[in-house]
Amino acid sequence: MRSREIISLLCISLILFLSACSLDEWTNQQENSEEKSSSEQKEAPAEEKQPQDKQDAKEEASYAYAQQLDEEVDKDGLTIIDNPNVKEVVVNKQRKLPVGYEPEELVIPDVPFPFEGDHPKKYLQPEAAEALEELFKGAENAGLELYAASGFRSYERQKSIYENNVKQRGQEEADKFSARPGTSEHQTGLAMDVTSPEMSFKLEQSFIETKEGKWLEDHAHEYGFVVRYLEGTKDITGYEYEPWHLRYVGKGLSTEIHESGGTLEEFFGFYEN
Ligand code: DAL
Ligand code: ZN
Repeated sequence: MRSREIISLLCISLILFLSACSLDEWTNQQENSEEKSSSEQKEAPAEEKQPQDKQDAKEEASYAYAQQLDEEVDKDGLTIIDNPNVKEVVVNKQRKLPVGYEPEELVIPDVPFPFEGDHPKKYLQPEAAEALEELFKGAENAGLELYAASGFRSYERQKSIYENNVKQRGQEEADKFSARPGTSEHQTGLAMDVTSPEMSFKLEQSFIETKEGKWLEDHAHEYGFVVRYLEGTKDITGYEYEPWHLRYVGKGLSTEIHESGGTLEEFFGFYEN
């Protein structure tokens, strides 16, 4: 009897021991799988991770955006841009440059112009000028002939251009393609109008039907530029399609904007649908 009791006790102990082992193993499996799934959760957004240059572009963009948040509004309801000295600056019909604004430095890019002499409209900010030279080399390598038609314009020069357009075409028409003084990107030294011999050096929408116009549409972003006034975006930018107007924003950001398929206004959250 005694030995039977001992055997029973041993059996019960063995059963309890085996149960405990399998419970341990089960618990370990659960923990492991939770760890795995929590580490998988941490890893999951990997697909959403963007290449470093894209992240940098976004960070720079939001930096610039933040710079522009604390801004005054003038008596006409226009926002006065707080920090115009960033290449991401958004200048448009609602956002004007501060009175007396001029870029800190301007240089003439080493590219062909369809006119001679040291005219202010040859100038751009140095970084934009260097990028334009690269863009022109890229176009030349593709067998294309680009010419730079109009870059920097002072407030006074934009005033005289706008007033002349109003005189010739009326204000309503002029406002579709000509910026009022203080609201032109050309005053920043970051914009250049580009044309070609095929266009007889004119700035017209038919530029997009030429090899040069098409190439710019597809490749300008590779050099840090965007075609600023896209077709069908007048309600957003305020202007008709200008396939010739290139705006320097910097590489990376230009690709982000190009790939977004939208305008600078939409990219920086200045336009809500
Ligand atoms: N053509 C553009 C809108 C300007 O005048 O700045
Ligand atoms: Zn222009």
